[in-house]
Amino acid sequence: MTKSTTMHEFSPGLAGVPAAKSSISFVNGQTGLLEYRGVRIEELAEHSSFLETTYLLLYDQLPVQTELDRFVADVTQHRRIKYRITDLIKSLPEHGHPMDALQAAVAALGMFYPARNVLDRQVQDWSTIRLIAKVPTIVAAYYRLRRGDEPIQPRDDLDHTSNFLYMLTEKVPDALIAKVLDTCLILHAEHTMNASTFSGLVTASTLADPYTVVSSAVGTLKGPLHGGASQESVEMLEEIGSIENVRPYIKQRLAAKQKLMGFGHRIYKVKDPRAIVLQQLTQKVLVHYRPSSLLKVAEEVEHVGEELLANKGIHANVDFYSGVLYKTMGLDEDFFPTIFAMARVSGWLAHWLEQIKDNKLFRPDQIYEGQHDRAYVPIDRRLGGL
Ligand code: ACO
Repeated sequence: MTKSTTMHEFSPGLAGVPAAKSSISFVNGQTGLLEYRGVRIEELAEHSSFLETTYLLLYDQLPVQTELDRFVADVTQHRRIKYRITDLIKSLPEHGHPMDALQAAVAALGMFYPARNVLDRQVQDWSTIRLIAKVPTIVAAYYRLRRGDEPIQPRDDLDHTSNFLYMLTEKVPDALIAKVLDTCLILHAEHTMNASTFSGLVTASTLADPYTVVSSAVGTLKGPLHGGASQESVEMLEEIGSIENVRPYIKQRLAAKQKLMGFGHRIYKVKDPRAIVLQQLTQKVLVHYRPSSLLKVAEEVEHVGEELLANKGIHANVDFYSGVLYKTMGLDEDFFPTIFAMARVSGWLAHWLEQIKDNKLFRPDQIYEGQHDRAYVPIDRRLGGL
């Protein structure tokens, strides 16, 4: 038996390995800078809307009013989902994870709207519009169905985020709450070569249709090391329960070599700039909801986490305060990643468009560490022993 002798430079998790050239977003992890198409996210969070930011990400320019009006009208017109997609969602187990329901429904959308020629501009434009418009409707439908409520039809007179909240609750939301959630969507819309975007790009590079691209990305976003961390970080805060318990809990967790959920990032070595804005937004909405100590516990966790982990470049990330914010707004924990997906669909699609413009199939190499030339031993002569 011989071992492979070919050795290439190997970076676990592809850390530091560029997977694409891109002009969609930029991160400086040392200074905490995040730009979409060159515009700082703090500026977008303050002045833009999710759909305007989506336009910027997709088309590399801020729209003039007529362009924005057209884009918003197109998205608004495509919010409804076919009753057969609703039937499909109805047939899923109500105790399932919402990200699985979203992934299944997005994959099914592709069967209703075949988009085989991905280089066709019409296919690109309309599938992009459909996905951005329909993902919130799917998320809201599963949210209601698993509580035993019927899905609510979208309302064309409501903006993107107000309509989403309306489809969840059947109430037109307070303008401040809708604005805050819209800002969350802006903050989650794009983030360079993260795991779900990479997963979507690999799928895109096979020239699969955009529904398949997005459903791949949704599956990858679900994991607790990525978008699933918002759910897990709130579950952790609930387990901690009180400010007094923060320090002993964290010390015990770190001693057991367990991670603090919502902390750490491959790129950021300072506090995630999105977490800073989300923390401020949580403070802003608190007046609208029942008093809760969750934010106070979270801030104490951050304080103790900083004390113990900052020297390793580990700070609060986007999922830490987004979880706190969504929980404060009364949403179910396992739906947090679906809200992330509603936002990130813009970034995934921007990367899809960029990839197929100059496509090269992703087909990386590996370093083989197994055996060669093994004999096929008949079953009655095998020793077993696993
Ligand atoms: N709590 C405690 N220690 C941590 C944490 C954390 N949250 N994150 C990293 N570390 C430590 C690791 O234990 C490891 O320590 P060691 O060198 O002593 O063994 C070191 O930092 C490096 O950790 P890795 O996981 O190898 O670093 P990586 O760059 O892969 O980390 C990751 C990135 C996966 C996000 C990690 O920080 C983590 O698991 N965080 C918790 C989950 C989370 O919040 N994910 C959301 C990220 S943001 C997003 O995806 C939108």
